[in-house]
Amino acid sequence: MPRTPSSARGATILGWGTNLPEKILTNHDLEKMVETSHDWIVERSGIHERHVGGSTIPMAIAAGRMAIERSGIDPSSIDALILATTTPDKQWGNSAAVQDALGLRCGVFELNSACSGFVYGLVAAHGMIAVGLNNVLVIGADTLSRITDWTDRNTAVLFGDGAGAVVVSSCDGPGELVAWDIDADGSAGSILWAEVGGTIQMEGKEVFRRAVRVMVDSAEKTMAQAGVTGSDVSLVIPHQANVRIIQAACDRLGIPIERTSIVLDRTGNTSAASIPLALADALDKNRIAEGDLVLLVGFGGGMTAASALLRWGPIS
Ligand code: ACO
Repeated sequence: MPRTPSSARGATILGWGTNLPEKILTNHDLEKMVETSHDWIVERSGIHERHVGGSTIPMAIAAGRMAIERSGIDPSSIDALILATTTPDKQWGNSAAVQDALGLRCGVFELNSACSGFVYGLVAAHGMIAVGLNNVLVIGADTLSRITDWTDRNTAVLFGDGAGAVVVSSCDGPGELVAWDIDADGSAGSILWAEVGGTIQMEGKEVFRRAVRVMVDSAEKTMAQAGVTGSDVSLVIPHQANVRIIQAACDRLGIPIERTSIVLDRTGNTSAASIPLALADALDKNRIAEGDLVLLVGFGGGMTAASALLRWGPIS
């Protein structure tokens, strides 16, 4: 089913943008806040530092502006804005505030599928283009530092703030999205959650185990829809939670970890921003060429999972 029908109107990513708060919190800084060590954090997660202190709307605006500028699209021709976030600044109106600041005149909505949110948003954007829109701005932005308990070493070492965005535009031909998968298992909601107004609660080991499983399941479903295997994939853009989760998932998928984009050493886990940050890093480093098969795959609280296989179009 999720193989994009060949009759669907195609879409392509034209521009990308990122934003990170200026303040960097290193593992050594954390050593002064909780009982932990730089070596433990690096060994168990791969994280060296993270950016903190942003708020979601301004980061989303900055990343969105960069993506629009890079796409060369006139802001007035953006038809929809999707803001994936699990940490909105306000109860409602977050995406509308981004729309206003960017000078857009279009429909907007917020989407909360935790760390899988950006891939959900990307799939939704392709769907909206298939039924008639031309340009959709998809932003993943999160401020997990605001819902982190900075006295809890089990979670404080893992999270950071950031935003990433892409402009998805209609194109001639089949477009980039070859196949995709969105999934969720609400029965696992209690292993990673936050009450409204509360902080992140997590059963780390269980999340780790399930994360590997659902990333592999989702990626395999998407690759099967496309009739490809791990060896056909040029680059994996995984959710940036823990390098050991990425390594374990890659091992099971038969993809060398060298063929992944990893930014978590510098960003920590930025939830919905994590995949677009890693995608932008790969593009900025010219690690993606026209025709490459790029696999985006993530998991998140809920628990949710999502993957998308893109046949990369012309680089803008
Ligand atoms: N510093 C030092 N020691 C620590 C720390 C810390 N920050 N945290 C835990 N420890 C201790 C534990 O207390 C334990 O000690 P014990 O053996 O005396 O009991 C020991 O280190 C080992 O702890 P484990 O929990 O076994 O460590 P593990 O190897 O599982 O790594 C981690 C922990 C990094 C949390 C890992 O389980 C993980 O990454 N889980 C997934 C987390 C994740 O991805 N969450 C985000 C999901 S995405 C989203 O939606 C937000």
